[in-house]
Amino acid sequence: MSTNTKPQLSTAFKKEVFEGLTNSPKYLSSKFFYDKIGDKLFQDIMALPEYYLTNAEYDIISNNTEAIGELFRDRENGMDMIELGAGDGKKTKVLLKYMAGNNFNFVYKPIDISENAVELLANNLAKEMPALNVDAEVGEYFEVLERLKGYDKRKKVIMVLGSNIGNLEHHKAIEFLSKLKDGMRGDDLLFMGFDQKKNPQTILDAYNDSSGITEAFNKNVLMRINKELGGNFQPEKFIHWETYNPETGTAKSFLVATEAMSVTVEKINLTVTFDEWETIHTEISQKYDDATVQWLAQQANLTIETYFTDDNSHYKNYVFRKK
Ligand SMILES: C[S@@+](CC[C@H](N)C(=O)[O-])C[C@H]1O[C@@H](n2cnc3c(N)ncnc32)[C@H](O)[C@@H]1O
Repeated sequence: MSTNTKPQLSTAFKKEVFEGLTNSPKYLSSKFFYDKIGDKLFQDIMALPEYYLTNAEYDIISNNTEAIGELFRDRENGMDMIELGAGDGKKTKVLLKYMAGNNFNFVYKPIDISENAVELLANNLAKEMPALNVDAEVGEYFEVLERLKGYDKRKKVIMVLGSNIGNLEHHKAIEFLSKLKDGMRGDDLLFMGFDQKKNPQTILDAYNDSSGITEAFNKNVLMRINKELGGNFQPEKFIHWETYNPETGTAKSFLVATEAMSVTVEKINLTVTFDEWETIHTEISQKYDDATVQWLAQQANLTIETYFTDDNSHYKNYVFRKK
């Protein structure tokens, strides 16, 4: 496992926290939720009955394992399977087991911004599927995209599950997809999960569970700033707030200050003030329909080859090729 990107990640954390907290309105990127505690909280979220996304995608992959696996296969030269934002790999393992059991010649390369997630996944796969060829790496999406071009000797399949793309606003999603496309050859595939528009209440509930786990997950970014950047945020003085706009399909998470306060973040020499009810925007979780995914693909010069969905059409995994 390579961890040579870590200093870059810690510099990016400082820079982006400074930018986000000095902006008006304030924001912090959801990619900073994930450390040892954030990864565990996200696993707890995935187990919540309200968080339908994981089960929907798990069902899609479990019910179509052979069809998906065989789309990926290259009998002649084998293939590289690269997963961005792999997390704990729960759903990917279904495919990995099929591929390992059906004579696929392949390397699995999970990449994630969370060093903890990468380490856990690599250790876990070494135990569960010791024969698997795993080359795990810590890295940020945009920073590793350039290096994907190096995987050009044989077919590659790039996977992005969990509707991770929904954390990007459309213009950023187009940039992300375009860069993915730039790194693809004609026979390469992109297999990506997109959470679909549905009853707005179902979506709100998924990001606003009654047990408070999503709230703790959202506040973990403040805990990380306290721990890693010498901040003195008092997370109990913020409330978790979720909104969903059914017209645009955009769900947003906020932290809202319940009183006026001043916060210092020593390692970036920053003191910021909050007014009572001032917000920090922390996450976007975009919801899609076919027309929007089609539009994103077109903007990025990708074509949709096929897609797989669950019984309720709550979620779709699309297969893209370079145009
Ligand atoms: C919503 S979770 C989904 C995890 C997994 N794909 C799944 O479906 O269960 C997002 C994952 O992407 C990682 N991540 C978030 N932003 C990232 C970024 N900018 N670059 C790389 N990884 C990122 C997080 O650490 C986390 O493991």
